[in-house]
Amino acid sequence: MLVVSLGGSPSLRSRSGVLLDRARHWLHIQGVEVVTFQVRDFPAEDLLHARFDSPKVQHFLQLVAQADGLVVATPVYKASFAGALKTLLDLLPERALEHKVVLPIATGGSIAHMLAVDYALKPVLSALKAQETLQGIFADDSQIAYGEGSAAAQLAPALEQRLNESLEQFYSALARRPKPVAPGLLNERLISARWSI
Ligand SMILES: Cc1cc2nc3c(=O)[nH]c(=O)nc-3n(C[C@H](O)[C@H](O)[C@H](O)COP(=O)(O)O)c2cc1C
Repeated sequence: MLVVSLGGSPSLRSRSGVLLDRARHWLHIQGVEVVTFQVRDFPAEDLLHARFDSPKVQHFLQLVAQADGLVVATPVYKASFAGALKTLLDLLPERALEHKVVLPIATGGSIAHMLAVDYALKPVLSALKAQETLQGIFADDSQIAYGEGSAAAQLAPALEQRLNESLEQFYSALARRPKPVAPGLLNERLISARWSI
């Protein structure tokens, strides 16, 4: 299984990034291969000028095409998801998330905008034809405490539990996801079905 993890925060020190990192670690322990991208690592000019042919963007598109699922994390900015993330999602082809399971993660300063994923990010994932978008996780900043120095960030126990439950759901959804049948294989199956009647 291959999962693309996408961090949508422009900030290097990022609470949504902490959750994404936990998710990556959890999936890695289950034996899932995870490739991580951060929106801030893409050349800003490529994103702002919508350069579909940028090598970094092309590499990202290739991995998304190969992936079984996507974990996408974003901060809430102005009651929506981060604009930087949108500039990258805009470069994906229309059916980029077809046959894929998506787990959205968001962090915000308060719970006032906890539905931002539902009304802002999910319609975009749906426009990209995501096969299944899970409920996802929202955390407010008070639930994620940065550690001192190199110490790991601490999650509130309720958040830790929600995150683990969501990851279990994501993993099950990945495992039961129907695989697209290659056109050649479909033809072969139809021929052998005729013989077996
Ligand atoms: C420019 C900006 C706009 C923000 N707008 C909102 C907002 O509308 N609602 C909210 O709950 N939090 C808002 N926040 C707070 C962030 O969503 C919150 O601190 C989040 O955890 C940051 O995630 P990050 O550390 O991954 O970047 C905003 C923060 C910034 C910097």
